[in-house]
Amino acid sequence: MTGADLDEVMVIERAAFRHPWSPELFRRELEHDWSTILVAVEPLTSASGRGSERIVGFLIYWLVHDEVHILNVAVGPEHRRKGVACTLMGETERRAHQAGAALLTLEVRRSNQAALELYRDFDYRAVGVRPNYYVDEGEDAIVMVKELKHPR
Ligand SMILES: CC(C)(COP(=O)(O)OP(=O)(O)OC[C@H]1O[C@@H](n2cnc3c(N)ncnc32)[C@H](O)[C@@H]1OP(=O)(O)O)[C@@H](O)C(=O)NCCC(=O)NCCS
Repeated sequence: MTGADLDEVMVIERAAFRHPWSPELFRRELEHDWSTILVAVEPLTSASGRGSERIVGFLIYWLVHDEVHILNVAVGPEHRRKGVACTLMGETERRAHQAGAALLTLEVRRSNQAALELYRDFDYRAVGVRPNYYVDEGEDAIVMVKELKHPR
């Protein structure tokens, strides 16, 4: 993601979350060395045949020491169940591996069935609960991890 993608990413963020991040928060992420925002794009072809693309989903992760922490993943409502999140999760894991990371971590709302299924598909394990983590709704967070193996 670059600053030029912000408006498109914000449309997805606002459609995906009851308490969306502000554009300012995204701008700050773009400045952090340890933060990466991946965007998934769909190619579009206009009547003139000229190609362009639109953003259909994004994923934010931090790489700190040997740990990749996924902060946020979202896909536009009309683009769901087509493997977009799967692609973003796969690419994050590939990059984590390449960076020599040992662990992938994330937190997810207890009620977020779609996200829980997605993370289970990728073999994340629930290792704990942070009670009342999402203070707005008083909802618990499930902490999930996945260890990465590297050949010795
Ligand atoms: C969670 C989310 C990112 C999934 O995106 P997606 O592109 O639709 O996911 P994919 O198509 O790659 O699905 C991969 C797998 O996740 C699981 N999954 C995705 N959506 C699901 C749903 N609504 N119900 C149950 N399982 C679901 C399935 O196992 C799916 O595999 P399948 O389609 O072969 O059954 C999307 O629903 C979303 O943006 N939700 C709102 C934001 C959010 O809650 N983000 C996660 C918390 S940070």
